[in-house]
Amino acid sequence: MAVDAYDLTGRTAFVTGAASGIGRAGAVLLARAGATVHCADLDAPGLDETAALIGAGGGTAVTHHLDVTDRARLGQAVMSCEQLHIMAAVAGIMHSSPVLETRDEDLDRVLDVNFKGVLYACQEAARLMVAQGTRGSIVTMASGAVDTGGPGLLCYGVAKAAVVQLTRTLATEVGPHGIRVNAVAPGWIRTAMTGRHEAGQARTEALMARRSPLGRVGEPEDVAHTILYLASDASAFVTGQILRPNGGVAMPW
Ligand code: NAI
Repeated sequence: MAVDAYDLTGRTAFVTGAASGIGRAGAVLLARAGATVHCADLDAPGLDETAALIGAGGGTAVTHHLDVTDRARLGQAVMSCEQLHIMAAVAGIMHSSPVLETRDEDLDRVLDVNFKGVLYACQEAARLMVAQGTRGSIVTMASGAVDTGGPGLLCYGVAKAAVVQLTRTLATEVGPHGIRVNAVAPGWIRTAMTGRHEAGQARTEALMARRSPLGRVGEPEDVAHTILYLASDASAFVTGQILRPNGGVAMPW
C-alpha cells in the first residue's frame, strides 16, 4: 500500500475532546494529513487554541462548543458536516474512588461522559455515514484500564470497558456499510488528565517511565498517530480492534 494511504485530503473529521491533550493532538494531526476537522469540546478557549494551531498549520477547523452528554446538541453538530468520513470520540474525564466509597452520582457522571458521550458520537456519526454512503472510520477512546483493574478505577474502568464493547458491537453492525470501528487504549499519557500541570507530576512520570521498556511516558502525539492510522486507509482491513499505544506497559499502576 502506498504511503499516501495516510492522506486525508478531501475528508471531514469530527473530534470530541479536541480542546486538550489527546483530542487536540489528534485534531491537529488529522488536519495536517489534509482533513477538515470539526472540533468539539466543553472548553471554549481551549477549542479556539486548537483551531488556531490547525489554522497555523494551513488546515481548516470548525469549532463546536458543546457537552458530549447532550445528545441533541452533539447530533446537530455532527449533522452540520457536509460529509463525514472520520469520527474520533476522545472526550473523557478521570474519576478515582475506592469501590467501597463510590457513590451513585460518581458512577452516573463517569458513565454519562465516558460511555454515553462516546455512544452518542458513534450513533450520530454512523447514522450520517450510512445515509451519506461514506465508508467512514470511527475511533473510540478506551484505556489500558480495560485490561486490568486498578485501585480507584471502578467507574472509569467500567465506562471504558463499555466503550470496548460498544466498539466491537458497532463494528459488526456497520461493517457491511464499509464503516470501520476501532478503539484506542492508551497507557499513561502526559496530559491535563494525568496532572501535566500539577506539582509533583515529574516524580509520578519518572515512576511511570521506569515501567516502560521504552523508558518514557507517552505524549498526546503518540496517541494521535494511532488515531491517524485508524482514521486513514492505512488501516482499511482493521475493524473491531483495540490498539494499545502504551510503551509496552499493559497497565501502569
Ligand atoms: P484531557 O483532560 O487533556 O482532555 C479531555 C478533553 O475532554 C478536555 O478538553 C475536556 O474539556 C473534554 N471533555 C471532558 N468532558 C467533556 C464533555 N462532557 N463534553 C465535551 N468535552 C468534554 O485528557 P486526555 O488525557 O487528553 O484524555 C482524552 C481521552 O483519552 C479520555 O477519554 C481519556 O479517558 C483517554 N485516556 C487518557 C489517558 C492518559 O493517560 N492521559 C490514558 C488512557 C485513556
